[in-house]
Amino acid sequence: MIELTDVHKTYLLGKTRVAALKGISLSIAQGDFVSVAGPSGSGKSTLLNLIGCLDRPERGSISIDGERVSTADRNRLAEIRARKIGFIFQSFNLIPVLNIYENIEFPLLLAHKKPDAAARRKRISRLIEQVGLTGQIKHRPDELSGGQRQRVAIARALVTGPSILLADEPTANLDSETGRTILALLRSLNEIDKVTLLIATHDTDIMQYASHIYRIHDGRLAAAADRPQHATV
Ligand SMILES: Nc1ncnc2c1ncn2[C@@H]1O[C@H](COP(=O)(O)OP(=O)(O)OP(=O)(O)O)[C@@H](O)[C@H]1O
Ligand SMILES: [Mg+2]
Repeated sequence: MIELTDVHKTYLLGKTRVAALKGISLSIAQGDFVSVAGPSGSGKSTLLNLIGCLDRPERGSISIDGERVSTADRNRLAEIRARKIGFIFQSFNLIPVLNIYENIEFPLLLAHKKPDAAARRKRISRLIEQVGLTGQIKHRPDELSGGQRQRVAIARALVTGPSILLADEPTANLDSETGRTILALLRSLNEIDKVTLLIATHDTDIMQYASHIYRIHDGRLAAAADRPQHATV
């Protein structure tokens, strides 16, 4: 369960204060598939970063599975991330000097209970196959296309088996065929493994499978619509 109460986030740009979130309250149950839509600059990535324990709000509270993360210290936030959260960044955030295999392995090396080398290899190979990158395993990120980098970022987010997966525009850089493959992978994680999904997206193909759609405008929620599963948009 993820609960946000009156969450505010302001960035300082030089001397200018940019209010990115202006009082967001929402709750997400385990196994929900939530889609966040809204124009560029409305606060979608900011919201994901806060829920993903990458940053803290100035005001309001965020709790995950009953633990208040909005006031947790940086070490505790890192632990929570390693233990329960997978994050697919809008800008991939791959590590340039590591090859594909090593990029995907990286979160496993930070995990609380590090799986042994054989278990790591098995899990990573399976994920690489699922995202269709078997031929590129030794490549570094700068030797890949945007869509291929996106798929590495997805595999890396999944490698620790997170209970919450946050994805910032996961299909924005993909052709429609690859986008559908990735969407099928995300849906099966949600439906079979009961992973909570929170996806910032403009992609109506993704939205049509969401259990809830939140629309954000200028840092505020415009409407929270509960949607029947598989409704058409
Ligand atoms: N690190 C930062 N420093 C200063 N301002 C920031 C920072 N990150 C975001 N902002 C500002 O906060 C607001 C919300 O940004 P955010 O990235 O959350 O929007 P978004 O909805 O994800 O947009 P997009 O669809 O373009 O990805 C914007 O006005 C943006 O300029
Ligand atoms: Mg964004």
